[in-house]
Amino acid sequence: MTRTANEATQPVDRPLAGITPGIPASDGAGVRLTRIIGSPQLDMVDPLLLLDCFESDNPDDYIAGFPPHPHRGFETVTYLLAGRMRHKDNAGHEGVIEPGGVQWMTAGRGIVHSEMPEQDAGLLRGFQLWINLPATEKMTAPEYQEFDGATIPEERQDDGAVVRVVAGTTDAGTTGPAKRPSTEPIYFDVALPAGATFSQRVPSSHACVVFSIEGELTIGEEPTPLPTRHLGVLDAGERVTLGTTGRPARCLLIAAKRLGEPVARHGPFVMNTQAEIVQAFDDYRANRF
Ligand code: FE2
Repeated sequence: MTRTANEATQPVDRPLAGITPGIPASDGAGVRLTRIIGSPQLDMVDPLLLLDCFESDNPDDYIAGFPPHPHRGFETVTYLLAGRMRHKDNAGHEGVIEPGGVQWMTAGRGIVHSEMPEQDAGLLRGFQLWINLPATEKMTAPEYQEFDGATIPEERQDDGAVVRVVAGTTDAGTTGPAKRPSTEPIYFDVALPAGATFSQRVPSSHACVVFSIEGELTIGEEPTPLPTRHLGVLDAGERVTLGTTGRPARCLLIAAKRLGEPVARHGPFVMNTQAEIVQAFDDYRANRF
């Protein structure tokens, strides 16, 4: 089939390739969460290594938090919708993430930190995403990008859609504050009133996922439903099209450039080779983080 000049310039729409609800899991000192990426069902979506959703108004599910633990070789992105989390690391860095706020931590060669709920009652709700670093950046100095809710730009469309832009640039030109040039991440929180749509160019170099937080979304020019609290992994293409099924919907749209490098991972360490994992354990035991 030959394409006309007009068709040739149109970005190829990304259809839905697969969906998963994730699995119930427990991490840290017993925080109950849903592991959406990084589970036996969905190991990773290069370079997205892990996506956890935690949501509970029962303190027993979260109060124990994540006492001191290490990370090496990747980035963690914590986005809170409700509640407060206190973060503290072994280099003296400390802060509280509040609703709407983001902590984008580049663990690099290593940090030891704790992530503890700053509340003993009420709703705690949010996400933690792990994004891999290329081999050349795995041993860089640790770095933080922290943004409270008020500093994250919101784009409002005529149809009522509201897009909070944590990272990346929307097609209308709104740029989020978080940056990582090697993976060019996109991290949007998209709220769609019934009947609204949102379209975004996502280069073919990028892996792309959508997690439906509320309501039922549709994905693609030929709309395929994505049920509430499910992750959709999108197929190859250059543009994402989101819609609703007649009720308001909200989702995270996340994309990042594939690395295509070998991945050796064990718990909180994600490197390229098994020998580097062994080295990470040695360094951690010897207090070299
Ligand atoms: Fe952590």
